[in-house]
Amino acid sequence: MSDTIATSGARAALTLRGVHKSFGDAHIIRGVNLELREGERHAVIGPNGAGKSTLFHLISGQFQPSSGQITLGDRPIQGMDARAINRLGMARSFQITNIFPGLSVFENLRFGVMRRHGLQYTFWKRISRSAGVTHETEQLIEQLRLGRHRDTLGGELSYSEQRSLEIGMALASDPAVLLLDEPMAGMSREETEYTVGLIRDLTAGRSLMIVEHDMEVVFSLSDRISVLVYGEIIATGTPDEIRANVQVQEAYLGTEVTA
Ligand SMILES: Nc1ncnc2c1ncn2[C@@H]1O[C@H](COP(=O)(O)OP(=O)(O)OP(=O)(O)O)[C@@H](O)[C@H]1O
Ligand SMILES: [Mg+2]
Repeated sequence: MSDTIATSGARAALTLRGVHKSFGDAHIIRGVNLELREGERHAVIGPNGAGKSTLFHLISGQFQPSSGQITLGDRPIQGMDARAINRLGMARSFQITNIFPGLSVFENLRFGVMRRHGLQYTFWKRISRSAGVTHETEQLIEQLRLGRHRDTLGGELSYSEQRSLEIGMALASDPAVLLLDEPMAGMSREETEYTVGLIRDLTAGRSLMIVEHDMEVVFSLSDRISVLVYGEIIATGTPDEIRANVQVQEAYLGTEVTA
């Protein structure tokens, strides 16, 4: 029991204990302890190649840890495959966009909504016309501010709209934990500001872990931040604590943070 209770008293949505990952001789994740509290937005930052995406792959089951424990709520999930972990309430976006380009916005999101209901593929054709699924899909389209693109093909959206759609697909499953890996990568300043606002709205009250390089975004969006350097978490804290952390400044942030 005590394992699932954060020191603050908030419950842990996701806990990593002593997680390691090696590829052959390369020891990439080197004993990570990390806790995502229920309802918090938690950023993982660190230099290129630090192991951030690898960590997300371990959490979501794309990779299996070499050792260590990963717990979703109270439930150990290390060793499970990605599909099983997804069914237990973990949703993620990837560093590259991952939508169905040949389906409309509505169809993409309806797919996500239907998946949440765990509907058998053979029943989808019938169920897809159900009023409940349609209503939930329409609501999601509004939340994503994609109303005018309801019938646009995913592949014809702008890049930032595609990323919004991808986040919507992840949210359609109403996940207990949402992982976003660089959702603003490749966006202009305006697109970034727009998408940050969207993520803020969409993730209110949710448990979010996000990898992001843009420090302005990280410090404005996060309740807490963990800093990963060469496969180790060197600090976890509030934005103010991370800004003030000398070790973090030396290892990674340098003048960016004090500016
Ligand atoms: N499947 C793999 N096999 C071997 N090495 C890998 C594999 N996946 C990742 N790595 C290595 O693990 C290290 C961490 O990569 P990872 O992609 O997790 O970094 P990252 O922190 O996400 O970097 P970035 O900020 O550039 O996205 C890199 O040195 C990478 O080459
Ligand atoms: Mg990465």
